[in-house]
Amino acid sequence: MAGIPEHIIDQVRERTDIVEVVSKYIPLKKAGRNYKAVCPFHHEKTPSFMVSPAKQIFHCFGCGAGGNVFNFVMKYERLEFPETVRDLAKRAGVDIPVTSGQSAEKASLSETLHSINEMAMQFYQKNLLSKASSTASREYIQKRGIQPKIVEEFKIGYAPKSWSGLLEFLKDKGCKDDHLEKSGLVIKNREGRFFDRFRDKIIFPITDSKGKIKGFGSRVMDSSMPKYTNSPDTFIYNKGNHLYGLKQSWEDIRDKNAAVVVEGYLDLLTPFQHGIKNVVATLGTALTLEQVKLLKRFTDNIIILYDADAAGENAAVRSLDLLIEEELKVKVAQLPKGEDPDSYVKKHGSDLFRELLDNAQDLFDYKIGILLKRFDSNKLEGKAKIASEMLPLISKIRNAILQSGYIKRLGDLLSIDEADLKKEMSKVKPDYTYRYQPVSPLEPETAKSRMAEKILAGLMLEDDIFIGPVRGNLRCEDFQDIAIRQIVEKLFFSFDKSMKITPSKLIDLFGRDEKICACIAELIATCDNLVDKKKSHVDCIEWIKERKLKDERKALCDEIKAAQDSGDDAKVVDLVMKYSNVVKEVKV
Ligand code: UTP
Ligand code: MN
Repeated sequence: MAGIPEHIIDQVRERTDIVEVVSKYIPLKKAGRNYKAVCPFHHEKTPSFMVSPAKQIFHCFGCGAGGNVFNFVMKYERLEFPETVRDLAKRAGVDIPVTSGQSAEKASLSETLHSINEMAMQFYQKNLLSKASSTASREYIQKRGIQPKIVEEFKIGYAPKSWSGLLEFLKDKGCKDDHLEKSGLVIKNREGRFFDRFRDKIIFPITDSKGKIKGFGSRVMDSSMPKYTNSPDTFIYNKGNHLYGLKQSWEDIRDKNAAVVVEGYLDLLTPFQHGIKNVVATLGTALTLEQVKLLKRFTDNIIILYDADAAGENAAVRSLDLLIEEELKVKVAQLPKGEDPDSYVKKHGSDLFRELLDNAQDLFDYKIGILLKRFDSNKLEGKAKIASEMLPLISKIRNAILQSGYIKRLGDLLSIDEADLKKEMSKVKPDYTYRYQPVSPLEPETAKSRMAEKILAGLMLEDDIFIGPVRGNLRCEDFQDIAIRQIVEKLFFSFDKSMKITPSKLIDLFGRDEKICACIAELIATCDNLVDKKKSHVDCIEWIKERKLKDERKALCDEIKAAQDSGDDAKVVDLVMKYSNVVKEVKV
């Protein structure tokens, strides 16, 4: 398993408590023997996420995510398995031996790409600072007023005006072509030749909250277009998944319990330099659910501060719904026309900048302000249009008092009866676009069947004593659900060999198959609430046996019909005999 010996993985698992680890990321509440929380992996309001200390698993009844402590950290931190084990080993005080075989080649793709990015950052940084390289880049940094301290803290660099400066540097360090291409830092042309993606550009490394470099942004130093180009999406970088500056700002965001969201690199760097450090940048896109979830780890107060232009206005409006849905408290600060946070703080200083933030508008006032500019609230169509834009937003506000207050204000503003607005609002359909989509419901019989299989497998996972009777009565093939069947196979196997296997270990035996890991957690969680486990056990064995016979009977019926159609009388007689034997066994 990517270089880490099995017994070390076992040790880490055994010395790690899932409750302790998960509660470092999200608040857990005790609920009986287990713990509950609002799921960090999908959008929800009431907690359907549970952690079982006894079984060392987590499971979400809402989105189906689940697994052991490794799966949780992998999913939450977006790490790969070896990195996760290393991370948890450190916390648990387990030493991972460095084997000679663990060369760069053996490292996972994610580790390789992170290390390429780290080397590239150093290359760009050196190029900005070294006296030998272009003075234009240093002049540009100066012109923009970025101080050396900020250059250092944000690891800002310069990509030289060369087709292969970085390429050669990385090749010298032993990087493979394939990895270089996957890093997005070099591009392969049609003839198969490589060249540097960023040339003669100022470079801004984009990191995660821990400082791991995910990708890069770059800016031209003149007025040519496009002004900014970013790394393409790679195995470790997804544009909408990160927030620029979070590494440098998260502590301040947590301490001030508020995050200022801006659009651009400089819109973050300049205020930061002026002491306003609780800022993150979305890098030109409207906020994504991933980004909102990231922010939610540190605060529930958001101040949107986008450019004072139409694009900024639209991005702000689009972000509101998502932020409200995630139950964050949102305000919108407005800049004078033509300004962005960078230019504003430079011109007016940090005191006025802070004042601007303090005067941020409530989201209702902000959105209504925009709509009143766009539509004529004296005309009936205008009123209807404004109401139809405001009601979906208001409907998402969970606090009932706040909500009815907003309806009242909207009614007053538009001179519309409150009752009519409420009636209109009840028609607003919930917007499911970025929510978990449950799979279509199963046929009742199939659902019952799957439930019986789930309960049986879950009980076997819960306690060895439930395995024997199932082993005696059913075969692996009698389990129709493919994931459950694979789990049962492993359970039977360890039972036959008299091996004890914990669910958490079983999850690791399935390697990184997320579906099966989630299934194991689901099975355990499902059985956790059963009142009479022994009776359920017996009933489910019976149920599956009966289903098996019913299926056989149906198959025989079909065969008899086919034999009759083809006039094979001998076969018909033979099959009817078989059929009557089966019928005797099926209870009616
Ligand atoms: P802006 O056009 O507002 O630029 O784009 P800016 O941040 O004020 O840049 P400066 O001050 O001229 O240097 C806002 C953000 O949108 C993204 C960048 O992340 C930028 O910071 N963007 C913009 C691009 O990705 N590509 C572009 O061509 C332009
Ligand atoms: Mn700007």
